[in-house]
Order: sequence, then C-alpha cells, then structure tokens
Amino acid sequence: MLDALIGKFQNYYGIAPVAAAQAPGRLEVLGNHTDYNEGVVLSCAVEQVTAFVMAPVTGTKCRIMDFRDGREMSFDLADIDRPPPRGGSKYIIGMLRELRRFGLPAQAFCAALESNVPLSAGMSSSAALEVACGLAFSLAYNLGLENDPALLARAGQGVENNYLGLKSGLLDQFSSIFGVKDSLIMSDFRSVEVTDTLTLPAGYAFVVINSMKKHHLVDSDYNVRRQDCESAAMKLAGIFGETVKTLRDVSTEQIAAARANLSWREYRRAQHVIWECSRVNTAMRLIREGDIRSFGRLLFESHESSRLNFENSSPELDILIDIAKSTPGCLGARLSGGGFGGITIHLVRAEKAAQYAEKVCDAYKKQTGIAADSFICAPGDGATGCLL
Ligand code: GLA
Repeated sequence: MLDALIGKFQNYYGIAPVAAAQAPGRLEVLGNHTDYNEGVVLSCAVEQVTAFVMAPVTGTKCRIMDFRDGREMSFDLADIDRPPPRGGSKYIIGMLRELRRFGLPAQAFCAALESNVPLSAGMSSSAALEVACGLAFSLAYNLGLENDPALLARAGQGVENNYLGLKSGLLDQFSSIFGVKDSLIMSDFRSVEVTDTLTLPAGYAFVVINSMKKHHLVDSDYNVRRQDCESAAMKLAGIFGETVKTLRDVSTEQIAAARANLSWREYRRAQHVIWECSRVNTAMRLIREGDIRSFGRLLFESHESSRLNFENSSPELDILIDIAKSTPGCLGARLSGGGFGGITIHLVRAEKAAQYAEKVCDAYKKQTGIAADSFICAPGDGATGCLL
C-alpha cells in the first residue's frame, strides 16, 4: 500500500514525498478498560493499515489528499489552535500540536493518505492515522520519536486526551506500534512496555462483527467510567494503604473484602477492571498451555462483566454475544474496545471463520434488522516508516 501511495502522491502533487509511514489498526483481545488503570492488556495489531506520505512545502497551507474517498483536506497552520474540525484532518492537526514539544517546525506540508482499516469499526482507525502521520513527521523533521516508540504512542494518546477530549489510555496507539505478526502482545501499562509476545496457535482466527450501533454519549461515558475507576482506587488506597496507586494494585480478594466501603458503582467498575487484569494473566498461561477452550471462556466472562459490572455493553452487543454462544465453532466472544456499541470479537476455528461470520450476521439481522459488517482478522505487524 505504501509503495502505491508514494506513486499516487507524486502524480497528484508533482513532487517527490520525503517521508512515508504506515500503521495498523488493533484488536483488544482481553483486558477491557485496564490500560488507564495501569493494568495489563492482551491485544494485537491487525493486517489492515493506514499509510501516510508527506513532503514539507513553503507557505502555511497544509494539504492532505485522502485517497480513501478521493477528497483533499486542507487547513492553515495559523488555525491549528482552534477547536478540532470535523473529519480526519483533526487527527493530523492534533498530532502536529503534540509534536511541537519535540521541536516540530511550523512548516506546511503536502500529504497523501490511504487506508484499509475500517472506519468507526472499533479497530482504532484513528490511532492508526495518528501513529502513521506522527511517524512520518518525526522522520521528516528528525524529531527522534521513531527511536522511542512509547513516546510516539503517548503523542497519539495526547491527540485524544488533549485535543479531542477523550481521556483514553495508551492501548490503541501502543498496539498499533508494537504489534507482531501472527502474535498477541501483552502490554503492561504501568511499566509501559510489551512484557510478552505469544503466537496465536495455528488453526484459530478472530472474527470481528460490528454491531453497527454506537450510542451518542460515547466519549463522555468513557470519561465517566475513568473517573469511577479513579475514585474507587482512591477509596481503596484509604483502606489498603499507599501501595494502592491505581486499580492495578488491588487483588481480587481485596476488592471482594472492600465491597461495603465503596458505592455500588465504584465497586462494580473496580471489580471489572481488577478481574480483567486477572483474566489477562490467566489467558497468557492458558494460551501457552494450548488450552484455547478455556481461553475462549475468559472472553465470554469478560463480556459478562462488561454487561453487568462496567455497564459498557449495549443491547446489540449482548445479542451478538448470545448468538455467538449458540453458534457452533465459537470458543469465546466479547465486546472489544471502549464499548457502548461498536464491535465484538469472536475466537473461532480458522477453517470455519467465514461460515461462522455469515451465520452470526444472518441471525443478528433476523433479530435486530441490522446488517452487520464482519471481518476475519489476522494479527499483523506494528507501524513502520522510512525517509525516502
Ligand atoms: C478505547 C480506548 C483505550 C482503552 C479501550 C478499553 O479503545 O482508546 O485506551 O481504554 O477503549 O479497553
């Protein structure tokens, strides 16, 4: 894709690009809403990527040709401190703002963009774009973020946190950067590193089924969940002492013992996060032992906890998971990512994946009238970039 985009850039602008980068979308496999609680997550990059190529130009007008829809986006450098515009350019503007502190010069550019990461499908197309353009800018202006990928991930998170107002964690950008082909990565968001890489045993695949529904208050709901977690952690620190900095530090026994000291909401939210961390650790062992059935059951458990404890499921997501439970070939399924609508992931036998996706989508259509999108996803490599 990158090579083709370089050619298209040259044809469109009549100049040669200077830097090129590509970054994949991601799947959250297990460990829901644990990242901003400094917990652990099992995730992978996917094979679908966003490619970004650019060249600095004179003046103040920045142009980005988006080959996904054949439309050119543009903005003036003088406007990047205004509120975010609609459309994809906001991720690029957000990244320019983040990169200023690494020495990004106030210089206009021409860029081209191409992607096969499904949009609004819960596969982090926004993180893929942030990482791809961040890497290209870093290379073009010698900012050094390519040598410190965790910093690049933080810059992408900064776009969401500081410019778009979503207090998300590091999972999306991290998975897009550190993904490894055919593998699941386990990330620790306290030490901010990938602590383990496991090959997904041959013969299994993830099917992603999009519920096609997102309810409107997604961003504020997300931020409210984060606040609930933080207030629960503060109370738990009052009970168990200063060693509790975040929910990551609380054991499943401790949260059970603290039930009476927390509000119902805090207790439920904390329980979800603490058990998710525990499930991630168990999952690593199970995958290593080759016990994929039990690993699958953890995915179902995770969804149940989202539904009851974290309340970030939706009627449509629950219907998809119920269908999954009664469809042969499924080992486990859950909502994936922020929740409140969005996607479900289903662990299935690879040879039956297409058939399985069709069955689930048919049943979902019958029950809800909604035609769901589905994708068979294989874990892909993380972001790459180069100077041209
Ligand atoms: C979204 C956020 C991530 C993470 C997940 C939930 O994808 O961007 O940081 O919190 O939700 O695990």
